[in-house]
Amino acid sequence: APRVLTTTEEVREALAGPGRVGLVPTMGYLHEGHAALIRQARAECEVVVVSVFVNPRQFGVNEDLGRYPRDLDRDLAVAGAAGADLLFHPEVATMYPDGYATTVTVSGVSGPPEGHARPGHFDGVSTVVLKLLNIVQPERAYFGEKDWQQLAVVRRMVRDLNVPVRVVGVPTVRAASGLALSSRNSYLTPEQQERAVILSRALWAVQEAAAAGERDTARLVQTGLEVLARDPEVRPDYLTVVDSDMRERERVENDPMTRVLVAARMFGVRLIDNVPLWAE
Ligand code: PAJ
Repeated sequence: APRVLTTTEEVREALAGPGRVGLVPTMGYLHEGHAALIRQARAECEVVVVSVFVNPRQFGVNEDLGRYPRDLDRDLAVAGAAGADLLFHPEVATMYPDGYATTVTVSGVSGPPEGHARPGHFDGVSTVVLKLLNIVQPERAYFGEKDWQQLAVVRRMVRDLNVPVRVVGVPTVRAASGLALSSRNSYLTPEQQERAVILSRALWAVQEAAAAGERDTARLVQTGLEVLARDPEVRPDYLTVVDSDMRERERVENDPMTRVLVAARMFGVRLIDNVPLWAE
C-alpha cells in the first residue's frame, strides 16, 4: 500500500530524490475513474502521488460536504493497486490554517455553465489545486475529462500563473451501462444508477443529431432536453454545447474540442457528465 503523508514537510522529504513526479488530486472514495488517472501517472512517472482531500472550499453552503463519502482504507487499497507510491491526506487545518486569506480566481472559463450553477465552486477548486501543485511540485498532474470545465479551469490557471507542470487530461471511465463513474454515484441505489443512464442517453442523442447534420445549437440542446424529459425524476440544471472556452455559440463547429455538457439532479443527487460533440 502507498505510504500516507499528512504534512507538507513529509511530502517534501519523501520527494527529495530524483525522478519524475506525477500528482493525481482527488477527494477520495476512489473508483475505477480515479484508478485510470493513477495508472496513467504510473506509466509516465517514477513517483506517483495521490492526494485525498475533501476540500471544504469548493462546496456551496447547501451542498453535500457533510455527507461526502469517505473511506481511507479502501482508498489506500485502490490507490496501491493502481500503482500509487504516496498518498497525501492532509487535515483541513493543514491546508487552511488560522489566518488563511488567499483565493485563486480564474475568470471567464470558471463561469457558465458549471460555475454559474455552483457559485464559488471553481475558486475553491483552483485554490486547492494550486496549493497541491505547490506542495508536491509534480512534473505532471492528472485530471479526468469527467469534470470537463474543471480541466479547462486548471489548464487556464496553469498557463496564466506559469505553473511549471504539464496538465494531462484522461478520458472518462464509464460503467458498462454508460453511466460515468463518480464518487457521488454511491448516493444512488443500483436501480437509481440504472435510471441515471438517461444523462448519457441525452448526450448520445445530441451526438447523433450532430452526426445527422444538425448544426443549430438550440436544436441540439432541445434534442438532449427531450431525452431528459422522459423521466420526471430528472431535474436538469443545464444541457449545453460549448467550445474550448466554455462558450455556447449559435451554431456548432466541426472541432474536436466542441463538447456537450449536462448537469441534473436525480433522487436528490447532482450528477454531471459530458462527451465530445463529434464522437470518435
Ligand atoms: P474527484 O471528484 O475526487 O475527482 C478526482 C479526479 O478524478 C478529477 O480529475 C476527476 O475529473 C477524475 N475523475 C472522476 N471521475 C472520473 C471518471 N469517471 N473518469 C475519469 N476521471 C474521473 O475533481 C475533484 O475530485 C476535485 O475537484 C479536485 C480536483 C481533487 C480538487 O479538490
